[in-house]
Formats: sequence, C-alpha cells, structure tokens
Amino acid sequence: MQTNDTNDVPRNGDGPELDVNPPAIQRVAVTFDINGATRSFDIEPWTTLLDLLRETCGLTGTHKGCDHGQCGACTAIVGGQRINTCLALAAVYDGASITTIEGLAQGGTLHPMQQAFIDHDAFQCGYCTPGQICSAVALLDEGELHSRDEIREAMSGNLCRCGAYVNIVAAIEQVAGLRDRAGERDSQSAQSQAQSHAPSHPQGHPPKGARA
Ligand code: FES
Ligand code: FES
Repeated sequence: MQTNDTNDVPRNGDGPELDVNPPAIQRVAVTFDINGATRSFDIEPWTTLLDLLRETCGLTGTHKGCDHGQCGACTAIVGGQRINTCLALAAVYDGASITTIEGLAQGGTLHPMQQAFIDHDAFQCGYCTPGQICSAVALLDEGELHSRDEIREAMSGNLCRCGAYVNIVAAIEQVAGLRDRAGERDSQSAQSQAQSHAPSHPQGHPPKGARA
C-alpha cells in the first residue's frame, strides 16, 4: 500500500473500494391492533413504536420528550402494560394490541382518568399528560395502587416539568377510589396540624406570671 512519506496514512483512493450499492434493506411486515383497528405496516427494522405511532399513524398524542426512556412522555399501553414507546422496536411487538391516548375515550365520553385530570387541574402545558394518563390507566388495570405512596412510586417514571405532581396524584387517587379516604386523612392531618400550631393561649402569649 502506498503511504504518505510523513505519517503512513493511506492516501485518498488507496483504500479498499467502497460498495456504493449496498444491499436493499429488508423491511419487516407487522400488524397491530391500534385503538381497536387492525393495521398492517411494512417497516424498517429499526423503527420504534413511537415513530410508527406518530409518523406513520399520525397519532401525535403520544409525545416524544427525551427519546431515551427517561421521561415517560411517550408512554402507551401495549399488551395491557405501559411501556416507553421510544425504546420499543415496533417489530418486536408485532401482533400486539396498542392503546394510545387517542383510544381511551369511548363514544365521545372521556375515560375516567382523563376526566379526573381535568377535574383536578392536573396539567399545565400538557406535554407530559398523555403519558401520565396512559401510565395511570395501565397501573389501575394492574390493580396495584392502594395508597398515595404507591401511586407516587409507580408514577415516578413519568416526569412533569411543570411540577403538577400533587394534582396528578390527586386525579389518580380519585379514579383509584382512594380520594375519599385521602380527603379524610388530609382533613384529619390538617386539623391535627392546626391544633399543634395553635397558640396555647387565646392571645398567643401566656398570661403574665405563667410559665411558658
Ligand atoms: S420520550 Fe420516551 S421516555 Fe422520554
Ligand atoms: S404539564 Fe407540563 S410537563 Fe407536565
């Protein structure tokens, strides 16, 4: 091989010839049930479910946030489980049933979780909201939410940059049937806090001569 005199780096044109006609990419045939409709596609093997939903199906309610499995904005329900669709290769899930935020309302009636998010003002910009709602719906279907702490833990993969967490948890509590108990607990806790902070004397100061 000919090299430069100075540093032994191959000169242009001296290396192996590049194949400028690589073999055609083998596409993959997949079929899904998406929000109740059977749909088939011929996709490139590296297509993520997120890109399939957004770019091919036009279901843009599933949002792309980090695209790295860190934020939960892309959450959809696949085979009954919530997944980050940005990390899911569509070909791997061939044949699965997929529910996106667009598929939750039935006949013009919002899903109870969607309604609860409205009732509790559980969003500001709304970017995280479809992922939050899909995540919460799948969690409820798993029947694993029995307390506020469990909700917080289970929802910790869904980030909200607007910080609407308190209202998000309240919305999920409502649909999980925890809201009344949580409300009672909150009011008991508020009462006991109010009592513990109340001045021990009506004027807030002990009468003269009394011990503090
Ligand atoms: S976009 Fe998928 S986790 Fe952030
Ligand atoms: S409502 Fe804005 S990111 Fe959650």
